[in-house]
Amino acid sequence: METSPFVFGKLATMVDFTDRETEADHLASNFRSLINTILISPRRWGKTSLVNHVSQRLVSQEPEIKICHIDLFNVRSEEEFYIELATQILKSTSSKWEELAQNAKEFLSRLLPKISFSPDDQSELSFGIGWNELKKNPNDILDLAETIAVARKYKIVVCIDEFQSIGDYKNPVAFQKKLRSHWQRHTHVAYCLYGSKRHMLLDVFTNPSMPFYKFGDLMFLEKIKTEDWVEFIKRRFSETGKEINHVDATRIADLAENHSYYVQQIAQQAWLRTENLCTDEIVESAFQGIINQLGLLFTNITESLSNKQLGLLKAIISGERQLSSQSTIQNYNLGTSANVLRLKQSLQSREIIDITPEQTDLQDPMYKYWLRVVYFKMKV
Ligand SMILES: Nc1ncnc2c1ncn2[C@@H]1O[C@H](COP(=O)(O)OP(=O)(O)OP(=O)(O)O)[C@@H](O)[C@H]1O
Ligand SMILES: [Mg+2]
Repeated sequence: METSPFVFGKLATMVDFTDRETEADHLASNFRSLINTILISPRRWGKTSLVNHVSQRLVSQEPEIKICHIDLFNVRSEEEFYIELATQILKSTSSKWEELAQNAKEFLSRLLPKISFSPDDQSELSFGIGWNELKKNPNDILDLAETIAVARKYKIVVCIDEFQSIGDYKNPVAFQKKLRSHWQRHTHVAYCLYGSKRHMLLDVFTNPSMPFYKFGDLMFLEKIKTEDWVEFIKRRFSETGKEINHVDATRIADLAENHSYYVQQIAQQAWLRTENLCTDEIVESAFQGIINQLGLLFTNITESLSNKQLGLLKAIISGERQLSSQSTIQNYNLGTSANVLRLKQSLQSREIIDITPEQTDLQDPMYKYWLRVVYFKMKV
């Protein structure tokens, strides 16, 4: 069977990657000039893909820049953070295991007696150091990138994904203070910190009383535009001997509200159902197939919400602009305007809605459609 030219759930790279030229150039230029960057967007719009794309491009163009990737997805405490930071910096600055061992010896000598490696599996780098010891002296690890960059005469860009995770650590503000006090002195290293919890990250980076205030260039990743998606979808169909017209490709982007992950998913399902020429029925059936598949998940999410939370979602889906106005509160039975604020905050922190200065909207376009059509049975 031919493999589908559309990917989702994996990172979009090279041919799978569309547009984002402006953002990619901006990020690449920040990396080159060692400008710290904070990149924020809702889930699955393409942050990780963008950072990886730019990294791959830079690594092939600029040998004097090393890029280190850290994913905090499963890093649940300050202690694990230090270990992950040290491990990934050592890995990204060493091409062989021997070199890694050598670098560890040279740059982490104070921690070394307790560091052990497993030669067959480089990912098994373990620091047998106790948390109490590490907590007293994380400085060598916090400065490791700078120390290596200076000694080896190159630049390092440390990219930290899912940065919102640090909000769950114990004493997050004290921890951030520690990070900032070290990182702001680094002159051979830049940090690219990115993640999805917009309100939490905004607080970390734009609140004057927070340690990371004005730490770097704040970038909000936007959705990829319809015309770029259309061009991409048509190209990927034709590169694999199939065809889709402008209208149907546009329909795919529209159904997904240009959400990167879902555009790829609908396009993939449509492509799989297409023998030669894609039709509007095929696009519709691809979309319905995905909605059905997600139904159980959406039912579970919905069951976990209160009636008032659902009321607020219904108001948003119905296009109400003034969510705390008296008429909206009455029509959707939302209680008081203080309550509306609480509802918004709780749905925001669960990443169900996204609140921007322009609008409040559901993050997941498929969930939005499912709620509207299947759950609330509203007219399409
Ligand atoms: N530039 C792009 N071109 C084509 N497809 C893309 C692009 N960026 C992202 N995608 C699609 O969207 C999916 C999600 O992208 P990615 O994982 O990079 O998003 P993310 O913002 O890092 O998500 P999360 O917040 O969940 O970590 C990818 O698997 C891919 O299908
Ligand atoms: Mg990501």
